Amino acid sequence: MSKLEKAALGEPATVAPTDADDAFLSVRDLRIHFNTDDGLVKSVDGVSFDVQRGKTLGIVGESGSGKSVTSLGVMGLHRSANARVSGEVWLDGQELIGAEPDEVRRLRGRKMAMIFQDPLSAMHPYYSVGHQIIEAYRVHHKVSKKVARQRAVEMLDRVGIPEPDKRVDGYPHEFSGGMRQRAMIAMSLVNNPELLIADEPTTALDVTVQAQILDLIRDLQKEFGSAVIMITHDLGVVAEMADDLLVMYGGRCVERGPAEKVFSEPRHPYTWGLLGSMPRLDREETDRLVPIKGSPPSLINVPSGCAFNPRCPYADIPKDNVTRTVRPELTEVGSQHWAACHMTQEQRERIWTEEIAPKL
Ligand SMILES: Nc1ncnc2c1ncn2[C@@H]1O[C@H](COP(=O)(O)OP(=O)(O)OP(=O)(O)O)[C@@H](O)[C@H]1O
Ligand code: SF4
Ligand SMILES: [Mg+2]
Repeated sequence: MSKLEKAALGEPATVAPTDADDAFLSVRDLRIHFNTDDGLVKSVDGVSFDVQRGKTLGIVGESGSGKSVTSLGVMGLHRSANARVSGEVWLDGQELIGAEPDEVRRLRGRKMAMIFQDPLSAMHPYYSVGHQIIEAYRVHHKVSKKVARQRAVEMLDRVGIPEPDKRVDGYPHEFSGGMRQRAMIAMSLVNNPELLIADEPTTALDVTVQAQILDLIRDLQKEFGSAVIMITHDLGVVAEMADDLLVMYGGRCVERGPAEKVFSEPRHPYTWGLLGSMPRLDREETDRLVPIKGSPPSLINVPSGCAFNPRCPYADIPKDNVTRTVRPELTEVGSQHWAACHMTQEQRERIWTEEIAPKL
């Protein structure tokens, strides 16, 4: 029986079924666990989502919730000796988890690229920025160094680096934070990737540069029709950029749906907490931010029931026929909108409307 059929019969599905027919990227039940001396770290534990061409999926969640590991998993960059990976990653109809490493390497750079959280770690300190962009281009295009250099200059120009024909010979440490970030974006986009994963692309940049970089990603996305995954701590960025939103907690997805719905009618207590605690680029005041009490769960000894239970203000309200030890699965709470919480729809709607929304 397929997962869709199971869900139709009311059986808990391990993944949220969606209409994935037109998805450029489909991730199904992705699990990435690490064997460590302290035990098995379940960094990503059954995450599913789709991204269509030309659309942006925002991924939010506190530090350590598994956002970067999820994206490294999609890119096939998780293959460390202690990693155990399962699930399916379909890119344009091709499954990548079971694919040969060489095939995934070929797709990386040509079809998919990533803007890393830390631009220094993504660039080699001993080679000029231009050299690295040229090499990234030549891996996938049989062109002379001269042609590739021209392409590198063009890309640096497109990301707004002044005097690109001179800066192309500069080294990463000679670039300021914002310029380095732009150079890395140029490198990520040199092969016009159809899937771009941007992991905190604007962290540590001033607001003006942040806005420029987001504009740039949007322009390039428009031009190439790329699918984008945008990982960020900034809900303002998500509000501006994302078509769909995935909220991660403790290596799992606790809510996902159209961004506008997740913002206007969030259905998970953790999402309520995030909305009240995360800064927004589009809002001046930060005095109303209320941190979520407590700390994220251990990914080694994950609580048996709802992982958010120890921090959830609604953990004790009575719920029909469920015990605390049962883990809530994603259930549909609206059109293409899913949340993993034991509360009834009525309970969630009432709490959101009467208690949470008026305070935000
Ligand atoms: N190679 C590894 N071995 C063991 N644990 C790992 C490994 N890589 C990541 N982890 C753990 O997986 C968890 C999720 O990490 P991840 O980097 O995905 O978090 P994140 O959501 O991106 O956080 P941040 O917002 O801080 O970037 C963390 O607890 C991290 O320590
Ligand atoms: S299942 Fe219970 S503890 Fe978990 S988020 Fe819902 S109300 Fe809170
Ligand atoms: Mg991260």
